[in-house]
Amino acid sequence: MNEIQILVVDYGSQYTLIIGRTLRELGVRSIILPPKKVDLWLKNNIPKAIILSGSNWSVHDDGAPELPKSLDVTDLPKDGVNKKYLILGICYGMQLLARKFGGNVDKPHEHREYGPAKVTLNTKHPLFKGIPEKTEVWASHGDTVTKLPKNFISIASSSGIAAMSNKTNNVLGIQFHPEVVHTKEGKKILQNFLTLSGCSIDWNPKNLIQQIQKEVLDIVDKPKQKQKVILGVSGGVDSTTLAAILAPVLGKKLICIAIDTGGLRKNEIEELKKNTKSAGIKNLVVIKAGEKFIKNIFITIDGEEKRSKFREVYKSIFETQIAKYKAGFIVQGTLATDIIESGKAGESVMIKTHHNVGLTWKVEDLHPLRNLFKYEVRELARALNLPKTIYERNPFPGPGLYLRVVGAPVTKENIELVREADKTVSDILKKYNLSKNISQLIVALLGVNSVGVKGDERVYGHSLAVRAVVTVDFMTARGYYFKEEIINEITNALTKHKNIVRVFFDLTPKPPATTEFE
Ligand code: XMP
Repeated sequence: MNEIQILVVDYGSQYTLIIGRTLRELGVRSIILPPKKVDLWLKNNIPKAIILSGSNWSVHDDGAPELPKSLDVTDLPKDGVNKKYLILGICYGMQLLARKFGGNVDKPHEHREYGPAKVTLNTKHPLFKGIPEKTEVWASHGDTVTKLPKNFISIASSSGIAAMSNKTNNVLGIQFHPEVVHTKEGKKILQNFLTLSGCSIDWNPKNLIQQIQKEVLDIVDKPKQKQKVILGVSGGVDSTTLAAILAPVLGKKLICIAIDTGGLRKNEIEELKKNTKSAGIKNLVVIKAGEKFIKNIFITIDGEEKRSKFREVYKSIFETQIAKYKAGFIVQGTLATDIIESGKAGESVMIKTHHNVGLTWKVEDLHPLRNLFKYEVRELARALNLPKTIYERNPFPGPGLYLRVVGAPVTKENIELVREADKTVSDILKKYNLSKNISQLIVALLGVNSVGVKGDERVYGHSLAVRAVVTVDFMTARGYYFKEEIINEITNALTKHKNIVRVFFDLTPKPPATTEFE
């Protein structure tokens, strides 16, 4: 396996893992490390480039993370690029570099500059080669560089300095976020950076499958370790793909466990059985635990409280299975997105507690997909020749329909109501062949009762929200606009239920909303 070419230093931005994903899309592997781990890594590795991420810190905050001590920020030697890595600071990363070299970083805005912005690029600089001079970018920052350090030039401007470079082009800074899809030419900018750094293509799905198999085998297949490996499968693309990757190398050692949580969609267990079968999984155990979950979550309203109660039961079921099979390991299909948003990636803040992230087990737990995004897992599934029903499957959260009773108490009746409503809307989308345009559908019962009129009678009933989103990586998403006839058909179908009097369509993008309501 080639050495890792790019080190991404994670200062806690919500977008850090997207940098890694975009680099992989460009064919290059990278490692993402929190600042504390960088010095040790740099002792043993020489990358071709280092990217310093954005952050929710201000460089002026007490305790704000600093540049790694061992970061070599001197100019390039005259005799060649290959002896030294290039550095690119993004947003906070750029501000750290500017301060280090004696520039000024100020808080010129009362509020954070946030969202789309227009910049003018110096297209003579190799970082912006082949890109239109004026382009749209995605900004998300409070501080800005107001005075460049000596020996640096400005290579892009918006309302102020939008990018900088030293004279030998090996220390670069960009104030906006090239890794976010809303930066129109972001990928091209990162490609230019890879070219400048002399990186070569070293990533493809087949390699990655072998890498995952090797990583897991190295841990679970030591001669003395005969214990079973438990893998939680939900029937979704992540866990099914992971099972398909591991089944051929682990054989009978692998026990796949699916939990019927009582919060699954209609017919989901049957689909799960079909999907795991076509993924080559033989040892599937289905545990019916709906009663246990509902008993624990019953009448809870708060989103985080529900998640925490769901986790408790989820964990206890797996603990029982670990003991039953005398397993030595538990493997889960946790993705990068889950890790970032549950605040477990480097320094990023917690958005939601994920049901399977950060649990402590008596046995070793492995998350072999932890650096990947959903679309990358879909690529692995395709490379494994899994059926379309798996690699095109829309995601569904582990806590399932429990998260879709929003602001109202969780009861069996409410869960059943959203289960039926989800089926109704899903069938309409299938009928119009819309499922392929939508990344995820959410139908939620809202705790907003209101007055309606049905058959000339007053009804005081529930409201439902329908939310369809389009996204590549679930870090950002936009609402899907249904045509009027489809809105009408969905509204008519859902309000046939005697207690539903109102249907809201939610088009709020992420951010500021999230995909799920809680
Ligand atoms: P959010 O709502 O955070 O969701 O924008 C991003 C993606 O993650 C799914 N999600 C979860 N998946 N356990 C999961 O397995 C969870 O606790 C969880 N919470 C959210 C969500 O459905 C979307 O696909």
